[in-house]
Amino acid sequence: MKKTITCLFLIALFTGLQALAQDFREKYRPQFHFTPRANWMNDPNGMVYHNGIYHLFYQYYPDDKIWGPMHWGHATSRDMVSWKEQPIALYPDSLGYIFSGSAVVDKNNTAGFGKDALVAIFTHHDPVQEKLKTGKHETQSIAYSLDDGKTWTKYKGNPVLKNPGISDFRDPKVSWYEPAKKWIMTLATKDRVTFYSSADLKAWSRESDFGATDGGHGGVWECPDLFPIMHEGKQVWVLIVNINPGGPNKGSAGQYFLGDFDGKTFTSNSKETKWLDFGTDNYAAVTFSNTADRKILMGWMSNWQYANQVPTHPWRSANTVARELGLKTVGKEIYLTSLLVKELSILNTTYFSLKNVSVKNQLDLTNQTKNKTGLFRLDLKTGSTADFSIVLANEAGNELILGYSKAENQYYIDRSKSGKTDFEKGFGAKHIAPRFATEKNVSLTLIADAASVELFADNGLTVVTDIFFPEKPMTHLLIKSGSGIIIDTLNYRVLKPSEK
Ligand code: FRU
Repeated sequence: MKKTITCLFLIALFTGLQALAQDFREKYRPQFHFTPRANWMNDPNGMVYHNGIYHLFYQYYPDDKIWGPMHWGHATSRDMVSWKEQPIALYPDSLGYIFSGSAVVDKNNTAGFGKDALVAIFTHHDPVQEKLKTGKHETQSIAYSLDDGKTWTKYKGNPVLKNPGISDFRDPKVSWYEPAKKWIMTLATKDRVTFYSSADLKAWSRESDFGATDGGHGGVWECPDLFPIMHEGKQVWVLIVNINPGGPNKGSAGQYFLGDFDGKTFTSNSKETKWLDFGTDNYAAVTFSNTADRKILMGWMSNWQYANQVPTHPWRSANTVARELGLKTVGKEIYLTSLLVKELSILNTTYFSLKNVSVKNQLDLTNQTKNKTGLFRLDLKTGSTADFSIVLANEAGNELILGYSKAENQYYIDRSKSGKTDFEKGFGAKHIAPRFATEKNVSLTLIADAASVELFADNGLTVVTDIFFPEKPMTHLLIKSGSGIIIDTLNYRVLKPSEK
């Protein structure tokens, strides 16, 4: 009898612990960023809005916590905040692994799969061919879904775009170009982007190349995106190109070019290399398709430098929060801006605010903010441009320091003492980001989850996304300024975990 009770108790304990794990409460588990329940994830793929649902597909390896034969995982959401993991959408096949790509809604049934079919356009990466070094192991293929992404059928005529012999030939991002009534595929082709066009998503013709001598070339070009944004009454074309390595703070990052696209050729007006995000943890970021006038970006919140080593279990990697893109002119240059999507406000709980406070040395807000979880959003506006820092800390002595340095006119995030950093030698570093804004008030929005912080400075002109692994939740908050600073306004919100 006693034995049975002990046994029952142990079973109950085990199921309880499992339930807890299933509950997404493990150490370092992001509470409002998408993470797969278990195993490896990288790039977001095929992000598309359809029938009231946002679809997120992603590079996924269901058998291990490290990169392996790639599948497309799938998650859905009504608001881009609460994501529900769905069954795997695409499995590797005889043509290879399923690498990154995009999805479109085929409203006019151009491909003949059915009106409003979801069509995924992705790279087939053949590991056997890769070993033969023919340079032809990456090709582009398509698949379609007639039940809102639940089940997918691969097209019999795959691949739809063969490889001319370019070793890195991948990550197709397809969109509809209305003036010529055709699809445009923006493809990463090693050290440049190549544009292809098609009337039916099946037969593709090469249009032009861009970038062999433009922008950053510290690594291979991957995961591009091309779309227009209206700015001051004119259409400006944005070309995003992810690059690995070669980012502004090392490793993987996303650059962008602004210019014009005429259905065949992209012409850049950008004089300097521009970065979507100066942090080390926003890679392979591209936009959702079919979101009308909104341009919404989401990236993989990790970096190839350490993605396979981060100390999380039983999953690896999260996505960034969804960000709304815009453009802003500063002097003679135009920059892309990123802001939190308004939908994120559903996470807001208690509210604390300050007005017109002068900070000399330090202001400890830990008792006012009353935050047990370390999840929060902070909006801060200073009355001057002076050095200051915001310190996220905990009882274990970990500190993540974000700040602004006037002499360099730079923002920074220093994660060198933020907790566990020893899994990769470059992880515990300080990352810097230029300030482009010219106003004297520095304004920033910061959103912190269990293991990440995303900084949007000057209404999204400078963005810095960094992950970190504190030993305990960062429940303390301090503002420091040696030279002294006036805080015009400070709004602090404790956030709740998103629903799963
Ligand atoms: C970018 C990337 C893509 C590729 C995928 C493979 O992170 O290297 O270029 O399609 O990941 O998982």
